[in-house]
Amino acid sequence: MKKQSLFAVLLLCAALTGCKQTAGEQAQVPVYLDTTKGIEERIEDALQRMTLTEKINVIHAQSKFSSAGVKRLGFPDFWTDDGPHGVRPDVLWDEWEQAGQTNDSCVAFPALTCLAATWNPDLGRLYGHSLGEEALYRGKNMILGPGVNIYRTPLGGRNFEYMGEDPYLASRMVVPYVQGMQALGVASCVKHYCLNNDEEYRHQVNVIVSDRALREIYLPAFEAAVTEGHAWGIMGAYNLYKDQHNCHNQYTLNQILKTDWGFDGVVVSDWGGTHDLDQAVKNGLDMEFGTWTDGLTMGATNAYDNYFLSRQYERAIREGRYTTKELDEKVRRVLRLFFRTTMNRERPYGMLCSEAHYDAAHQIAHEGIVLLQNEGNLLPIDVEKAKRILVVGENAVKMMTVGGGSSSLKAQHEISPLQGLRDRLAGKVEVDYARGYVGDVGGSYNGVTTGQDLREERSAGELIAEAVAKAEGADYVVIFGGLNKSDYQDCEGHDRRSMDLPYAQDSLITALAAANPRTIYVNISGNAVTMPWKAQVPAIVQGWFIGSEAGYALASVLVGDVCPSGKLPFTWPNSLQEVGAHALGAFPGTWREGTGIIDEEYKEGIYVGYRWADRQQLTPCFAFGHGLSYTTFEISDLRASRKTTSDGNMSFTVNVRNTGDREGAEVVQLYIHDVESSVERPYKELKAFQKVSLKPGESRDVTLTIDRRALSFWDEENGDWKAEPGDFVALVGNASDNLPCQVQFALK
Ligand code: BGC
Repeated sequence: MKKQSLFAVLLLCAALTGCKQTAGEQAQVPVYLDTTKGIEERIEDALQRMTLTEKINVIHAQSKFSSAGVKRLGFPDFWTDDGPHGVRPDVLWDEWEQAGQTNDSCVAFPALTCLAATWNPDLGRLYGHSLGEEALYRGKNMILGPGVNIYRTPLGGRNFEYMGEDPYLASRMVVPYVQGMQALGVASCVKHYCLNNDEEYRHQVNVIVSDRALREIYLPAFEAAVTEGHAWGIMGAYNLYKDQHNCHNQYTLNQILKTDWGFDGVVVSDWGGTHDLDQAVKNGLDMEFGTWTDGLTMGATNAYDNYFLSRQYERAIREGRYTTKELDEKVRRVLRLFFRTTMNRERPYGMLCSEAHYDAAHQIAHEGIVLLQNEGNLLPIDVEKAKRILVVGENAVKMMTVGGGSSSLKAQHEISPLQGLRDRLAGKVEVDYARGYVGDVGGSYNGVTTGQDLREERSAGELIAEAVAKAEGADYVVIFGGLNKSDYQDCEGHDRRSMDLPYAQDSLITALAAANPRTIYVNISGNAVTMPWKAQVPAIVQGWFIGSEAGYALASVLVGDVCPSGKLPFTWPNSLQEVGAHALGAFPGTWREGTGIIDEEYKEGIYVGYRWADRQQLTPCFAFGHGLSYTTFEISDLRASRKTTSDGNMSFTVNVRNTGDREGAEVVQLYIHDVESSVERPYKELKAFQKVSLKPGESRDVTLTIDRRALSFWDEENGDWKAEPGDFVALVGNASDNLPCQVQFALK
């Protein structure tokens, strides 16, 4: 046998057997089969053995959630699934109806807003790892998530699936999520890239945004997921930017993602987000899913052959309209994905609904719950003294793991807040319940039925009267209200119509607070809501959508088994007028005549969230980074590693002391203020943080490090990051509105 062909045979063997590759050096997280030379050679080998039809087959879907492998060469089919809070139950091959499996009930992890509210990157890793294990059990090779679109307005229907308003916080949380999952050989598909901040008309919105806002606000979390997390998948968003849909966009995909950031994974279209053959070929899309099938867009059944990147692309190549240059590049990326996932023989066994996953869900949930207000230290509930607690509200009983769109789950179990409190207080305190209001009584979503019957005939007035009557004489009244995951609430497909609480909840809360001064309001949502009754309700808790363990996690915080340590990942405005996009009339954009396109100019630019509040000198209802505890902390003695720096690398040390009488965790936050700049800059920006757990009386020095990028802005003229020499101030504290320590330093 000739030397050359022997080599080819060896390579084929390698491709077929998926031999182990040496992982590159990785701290903490092992990444199997990364882009080592071995894989690249095997990709080229496989590529030259594939027929044109086989190549076309791997770049588009063959069912709702799968694409073809190359069975002749030993590559199995590729399965993906939503994402991002648990593994979605299986649907039929070509329909959105449930497949009716009995092995697809999962652990529902807390929504990503809650993960972000933990400000604990270790929990991001635990989240990715736990979900990755569930995915492996279920035979899924890629999870459609996490989502890191920026929280631009409290009306955003999918904010609950994202990680808040701050690009730095979202970056720090997304990287370990991706790494934790991919360490198991399960790809993350980070979504929705990019500028997908509207649900209403999401296929038609063309975002107009400055380069600075794009680079400084909307892209960093994606950038970190790619350059630090080494995400293997990115999902293009439905909307347009520069008049091109983001599933095939020259600027965002070819230029920024693949060229500037060196992304070597696959760009997957959002389901039905592909619109044009030529753009799909040339503008960075690698795998097409969901187009023109009955579901997101209407079409034929089993229309996969009609996809843009299917037979019409194949035909166009055969007719010489395209060479195979772009195709081969797409296939290389898909093969790389195969070697990292389906062909990865190092993958561990999967596990579904393990104790460890429930523990993870519980920990993420209780660390993310935010104590917003606690007048007179009403919380925690005094279990020894209390005799009767009244729980009120539909959200105390409503299952929240179903609904909301593609992130809807079939949870093996979901502990409601009422059950959580009842179980925790059994034999000690009587826990009474009143419905209080009627929201969404629907008990099924996407064919998953909760089995709950929440129908209620009584009027709002009658329900309020009943709750008020029961509230009198109760030791505590705990209202669980907020939003739910039905249309126009926290739900895919539409944005909220108002920031106010729906279903007459304001009247209910006001009436209960008047009837009983020991009223606690727990808000279940992924979004801020107006709180006109804030001054009358002593204790307010943000409870998010926190999945399977919701009731237990909420009970553990409310009764004080754990000290709350969550911090808001977004600014909680008093009203929409305090949000840049709304104050400037820049949401939801205007129809461009005769085109079916809505132009939405992000007029607020870089001034999103606290950046806007600072600029307008607003006092929000609750500030970004805010979150109380049952203990107290003192942050003091801020020191800079040096007074001047020439490379921008600096570290700051600060002392944190637990001055209260119980163990708790505090998040030390560092913001940078640029004293003088040639361009307008936000007053301050989060650039480092660390969560520290301390026993009563314990104190610790915490060191926070920044680099040159932390001092930089996006220089639109030169198209690059720029750190200007001059003075800066590091502001340190435990919330964006509580930064008592400051130190000045200079960049030379
Ligand atoms: C959503 C994606 C999701 C996909 C598949 C789309 O409608 O925007 O986030 O992953 O459907 O379910």
